[in-house]
Amino acid sequence: MTRLTRRQFHRSVLGAAAAATLPTFAGANTAPILHAREGNAQLAPTDYPETKIWGYDGIVPGPVLRARQGERMSLRFRNDLPQASSVHWHGIRIENAMDGVAGMTQPAVEPGEEFLYDFALPDAGTYWYHPHNRTYEQMARGLYGALVVEEATGAPEVDLDEVLLLDDWHLTDEAQIEDGFGNMHDWAHAGRIGNWITANGDGGWSREVPQHTRMRLRLVNTANARIFTLEVRGLEGWVVALDGMPLETPQPLGALTLAPAQRADLIVDVVADEGEEAFLVSFERDGGYAIASFPVTSTARQARLSAPDALPPNPVPALGPLETAARSELRMEGGAMGGMQGAMIGGRMMGMRDMAAEGKAWAFNGVADMGEKPLLKAALGDTVRIAMINDTAWPHGMHLHGHHFRQIRADGTVGPLRDTILMNRGEAAEIAFVADNPGDWLLHCHMLEHSAGGMMTWLRVA
Ligand code: C2O
Ligand code: CU
Repeated sequence: MTRLTRRQFHRSVLGAAAAATLPTFAGANTAPILHAREGNAQLAPTDYPETKIWGYDGIVPGPVLRARQGERMSLRFRNDLPQASSVHWHGIRIENAMDGVAGMTQPAVEPGEEFLYDFALPDAGTYWYHPHNRTYEQMARGLYGALVVEEATGAPEVDLDEVLLLDDWHLTDEAQIEDGFGNMHDWAHAGRIGNWITANGDGGWSREVPQHTRMRLRLVNTANARIFTLEVRGLEGWVVALDGMPLETPQPLGALTLAPAQRADLIVDVVADEGEEAFLVSFERDGGYAIASFPVTSTARQARLSAPDALPPNPVPALGPLETAARSELRMEGGAMGGMQGAMIGGRMMGMRDMAAEGKAWAFNGVADMGEKPLLKAALGDTVRIAMINDTAWPHGMHLHGHHFRQIRADGTVGPLRDTILMNRGEAAEIAFVADNPGDWLLHCHMLEHSAGGMMTWLRVA
């Protein structure tokens, strides 16, 4: 495996490419086009060639889609990739038919075809979009973008609002995307982990800021399987939202873990002195790397602003009584060193060796892939609980579609609203949510090789 060195690149001379922004979202007929196609991107330093990518509008990341809470979003998705695709609006509490799950909520959009996505935006916050067909390949090739829903009222006052999509890429010596997407070793272990990290498609992302600037940083982990462990230097502030949903009280920012698909909204002040640099740092096995840098070039104001208020809450229903709520169990099994003997696939029991031949390595409750029966059926408005146990040797980031949930901790307290929860090896976690969104919804691991390898189930809200 090649390892491109990343050490100097926070000082790269590459400018920060401004992400394109789609300005308006009008009615269906005039809906702007979101165009999935091949493109080129300078992911690696400029002494490497450009990388052939697949991107929305041909760029990595795709355009930042911005709209205001309460508006509708309408987009004509046009697929000019050599593969069928679809668009999933990750974290949006969306109507089921617009959820973008190929083969479940819609047919895959074939090359040359279009699909109209038109949906309401009930919640403000940081969301993102990505394919939901051969996701492990299509996302690794560069298909993802941010969807920012601005607060209808009560947006925090900041000088700068920056989206940072964090990704890792598995690149060859020529800086091309390594195409071993079906690599069973990756599938049965941690998933596809790259050798090159970018923020907004740039290995040396940088933006000049004055001292005491207040920024809202919207961090999104768009990697297939990498868990980011992040810290800041020369910045101080708070976590104000997770997975799009405001925290009741802003939390002082320390080390931050982002599993694949997770987001964090930070409000930070630049405290590094003029002439210095502030950083977002990612911790890897061999040390910390600056993945975004902020050279401090002047002074915005003499002192820091005062602490921010909490963001206004989103209209997510409160949990009903937990004692009487239906409780399902979900045991996560399989993978390397997991001790699983086999699992049911398509109604048939298979041993591990046969499973591997079909590209499967994982199971939930003894079933790999989508079983015929849902994990649970909920009546509309019910509060439901899912007790999950990670009986594998690997971490998993479990994502529920169409809803946000809260973790019910062992001491009975509840965690913040989330749509993806990281579960380390051997860990148990119980979640609860109000099943207020009718339809069939996926619950899967967002390590994309794991979900493709079997870690996928669904539930029905009727
Ligand atoms: Cu972000 Cu089922 O996905
Ligand atoms: Cu997993």
